Amino acid sequence: MPSQFSIVIIDPDQLSRDAIVATLRPYSDSITLAGSVDNFTDGASAIQRNAPNVVFLGVDDLLKGVKDVQCITLLYPRVSVIACSSEKSSEWILALMRAGAVEYLLRPIAEEELKQSLQKVGRFLFAAPEEKVPAGRIIAVYNPIGGMGTTTIAVNLAAALAEEGTKVALVDLNLDAGDVSTFLNVNPTYTLSSVTTNVERLDANFLMSVMTRHASGPFVLTEPLEVDEAVSITPEQVQRILQLLRGIFNYVIVDCVGQLAGCNLAIFNSSNQILFTTTLSLPALKNTKRYLSAMAGKGFGRDRVKLVINRYLPKSDIQVKDAEKVLGMPVYQAIPNEYSSVVDSINKGMPVVKLLPRSAIAKSILGLAEQVKEQSGAEAPRRAPVRLGQ
Ligand SMILES: Nc1ncnc2c1ncn2[C@@H]1O[C@H](COP(=O)(O)OP(=O)(O)O)[C@@H](O)[C@H]1O
Ligand SMILES: [Mg+2]
Repeated sequence: MPSQFSIVIIDPDQLSRDAIVATLRPYSDSITLAGSVDNFTDGASAIQRNAPNVVFLGVDDLLKGVKDVQCITLLYPRVSVIACSSEKSSEWILALMRAGAVEYLLRPIAEEELKQSLQKVGRFLFAAPEEKVPAGRIIAVYNPIGGMGTTTIAVNLAAALAEEGTKVALVDLNLDAGDVSTFLNVNPTYTLSSVTTNVERLDANFLMSVMTRHASGPFVLTEPLEVDEAVSITPEQVQRILQLLRGIFNYVIVDCVGQLAGCNLAIFNSSNQILFTTTLSLPALKNTKRYLSAMAGKGFGRDRVKLVINRYLPKSDIQVKDAEKVLGMPVYQAIPNEYSSVVDSINKGMPVVKLLPRSAIAKSILGLAEQVKEQSGAEAPRRAPVRLGQ
């Protein structure tokens, strides 16, 4: 693992340059300053000469900044650009991130923020090629219609799997009406569409910069804010995002809904397991039967598709064994009906497994997580995060 990474600072604002240099001084054993210049021309030659890992780029003019970021990322795709500016507007942030910057720092640059963004970039720079990271498992949680608790199960499964040393991504690919952000009470600046508008130059650094870590553990990539943006997401983009996520995370949990077509097929093709969620009502089981057989016809059979019964009531007319008989397949896990716990969890923006870990519903989801882990065949791979200057 490299013990060093190098940076170049390009910023007309001397105070800003000095602030970065001063903040990084205590870390000189792990960070090398390969250049600090006040104009782009000198900066470009410093990049060419030194091949730094990170470029801090001061931006005072948005159009020029966007062009400069594009130029660096196009010519030197391995360089992570951190944009620094005095401008707070989300238009600037979004434009520069879309151009390829992986982080955005507001001047005057706060020491803590600078360290955090370097840590984020550094962790992935260092972790990438040297250690052979086994491919992460992609688990789709799916019901074609919705209303069965797919999101509830996806959010809780992700939180249950995320523990020390196990990195989990939770991706909302319910493109028309995603609600992972509501369940977790997050309001991210970046969503799936920030990723898909940049898909050609998408890499692990960029992907990480648009994901938000939730207090319950998983890193989340939420649904697009605008319906229009969702329409333009293609199956190829979905596949590419999932493949990249698989290289970064141990588990990638995907919340999905809708027809057996387009993006959903791309998700299923990439998935190691598909958890089909349903309830024990007649209409739900009838639909489940139709869909399971259609999925089997497309090559997603029992080896990949597992049945999760949600809102299970021990005294209901239809029992688990009846469902197994009708559907011709064993139930992987039954999750009890616990309305007040689920509503409480949604209102607090915290998964039940963390909010009420002793509840029956939390225990059954932890049981589901155990099965998912067992199925993955081995202990979840562990990777120590790299800390700057430590
Ligand atoms: N195990 C459960 N017990 C009680 N209520 C549940 C349970 N799982 C989900 N719900 C409720 O069902 C509704 C739909 O759940 P949701 O996860 O949004 O389903 P989907 O994603 O399939 O549309 C939510 O209002 C949620 O509160
Ligand atoms: Mg949902």
